[in-house]
Amino acid sequence: MKKKLIAGNWKMNGSLAANASLLQAVLDGSKGMNCQAAVCVPAAYLAQVQTILSGQTLVALGAQDVSAQEVGAFTGEISAGMLNDFSVRYAIVGHSERRQYHAESDATVALKAQRALSAGITPIVCVGETLADREAGKTEEVVKRQLAAVIHTNGHCISEIVVAYEPVWAIGTGRTASPEQAQEVHAVLRAQLKAATSHSDRISILYGGSMNAANAAQLLAQPDIDGGLIGGAALKAPDFLAIMAAGSVSA
Ligand code: 13P
Repeated sequence: MKKKLIAGNWKMNGSLAANASLLQAVLDGSKGMNCQAAVCVPAAYLAQVQTILSGQTLVALGAQDVSAQEVGAFTGEISAGMLNDFSVRYAIVGHSERRQYHAESDATVALKAQRALSAGITPIVCVGETLADREAGKTEEVVKRQLAAVIHTNGHCISEIVVAYEPVWAIGTGRTASPEQAQEVHAVLRAQLKAATSHSDRISILYGGSMNAANAAQLLAQPDIDGGLIGGAALKAPDFLAIMAAGSVSA
């Protein structure tokens, strides 16, 4: 059975000093845990965090985005090749905040996943419905459409991706999907992946959206929830460690 993957998405938070103390506490507190973990940090801190994480294998380095372009006149963008220079293992693509505030389309997200994969970086592909989608009964349709674009562009390589189901209404709101609600959507995504590749058992499907120390164990106990993508709770070492501990129990 795969180990659970507990990935922190720091979003636009941190400082040199805060990162160093957060990571030291996470590394000190997680020794011997039986999960995989990652921290997806702001690009400005990739070099710092690469150094702090060197010499251990439990916590991997991740980025929060990657350019859909390979190289050239794209001011402000960061390429997959550049992420490679810092031994980045994961790159989040298609986070709802990027889809919403930077108008990223399904096609752009699919290209970003492709760029990451061709550089040997595992894309964490985020999908999720808005509250309006859910209330209109469109949850399944929306998440399947978002994932279908990535499958269409990446073909058999999709066995190398990680998927994160992040209902937009649960992100940063303190309103978590119930374990049953999350499991229902994860099962849909699992079936879609199974139809697309014979290696779908390799693909971890994470849940994200107000996951915290109190609700992680129940969410991670669901059969199709293979880990978590954690926002706010990843910024506090005791909370992130508690989620990693929950992921180690249900591994
Ligand atoms: P919160 O855990 O703060 O709700 O954020 C979830 C998220 O967006 C992770 O990518």
